[in-house]
Amino acid sequence: MGIEFTRSDFEKFRQFFYRKTGIFFPDSKKDFVEKRIIKRIEETGHSSFRAYFNFIRFDRSSDEIQNLINLLTINETYFFREKYQFECLVENVLNEIYEYKEPDEVIRIWSIPCSSGEEPYSIAIYLLEYWPLIDEVDVEIIASDIDTNVLDKAKKGIYNYRSVKNLPKHLLRKYFKKLSNDRYEIIDDLKEAIDFRQLNLFDPRQNKEYRYIDVIFCRNMLIYFDDESRLKAAQIFYDAMNPGGFIFLGHSESMSRICSLFKVRKFKQGIVYQKPF
Ligand SMILES: C[S@@+](CC[C@H](N)C(=O)[O-])C[C@H]1O[C@@H](n2cnc3c(N)ncnc32)[C@H](O)[C@@H]1O
Repeated sequence: MGIEFTRSDFEKFRQFFYRKTGIFFPDSKKDFVEKRIIKRIEETGHSSFRAYFNFIRFDRSSDEIQNLINLLTINETYFFREKYQFECLVENVLNEIYEYKEPDEVIRIWSIPCSSGEEPYSIAIYLLEYWPLIDEVDVEIIASDIDTNVLDKAKKGIYNYRSVKNLPKHLLRKYFKKLSNDRYEIIDDLKEAIDFRQLNLFDPRQNKEYRYIDVIFCRNMLIYFDDESRLKAAQIFYDAMNPGGFIFLGHSESMSRICSLFKVRKFKQGIVYQKPF
């Protein structure tokens, strides 16, 4: 007989996973979760969900939990996704930040979650191509995600055509080596420009290392959280940011629906949220 994954197993597992990651699986995701859990139960040689669940709850190394996280996160992303936000960054937001910075002060941009790297690399390309002050200012780009597989991919920087197809041809030629018709590798200078780090946003030991951030890109992650974890995330971002810093969310996400910690700023390219001074 095959391994069973009952309604109550799903309930137990989703609470456990939610406490670890903030990600809440609605009922409609039961089949998605079940398929992946059964695969891991079989691959780790356990005979039932109960045995496997005990194993992950008491697994001090957390290796198996990481395997599950890597299987259960949705990592969809691509270069120049919602590019009007990068336009807003180089045409408005960075100029405002530059105005109130001391000379020689660093500007810190944090892409969280960065998935396989397309977002932070897009930010870097936008800065190099379209922000005239880039040669005068020291900009750091930090990029984090909970999923170790996507971070490995980000560091390797090899993408298929689907990922890069929104890039104008001249930028594809300039910033990538073409390995084959469907494989493009980002140039080493860009790989070295991004500081990729593994992070579970809700791990207080990890998130307290992120401070003095001027711009956050937090796009397409809050949609997987419930209201409580969205509020926690907003508080974590608030603590990580410099006063006056900006935060970009995905097009279906809204900070005003979560809390009133941030001011709404309307630019011609859309809404951005700002931590008050
Ligand atoms: C759909 S991708 C978004 C990527 C990119 N920001 C974009 O919009 O194209 C969502 C990412 O959120 C990450 N994620 C989910 N929960 C997380 C958490 N608690 N801490 C850090 N990253 C998390 C997932 O691993 C996944 O790579």
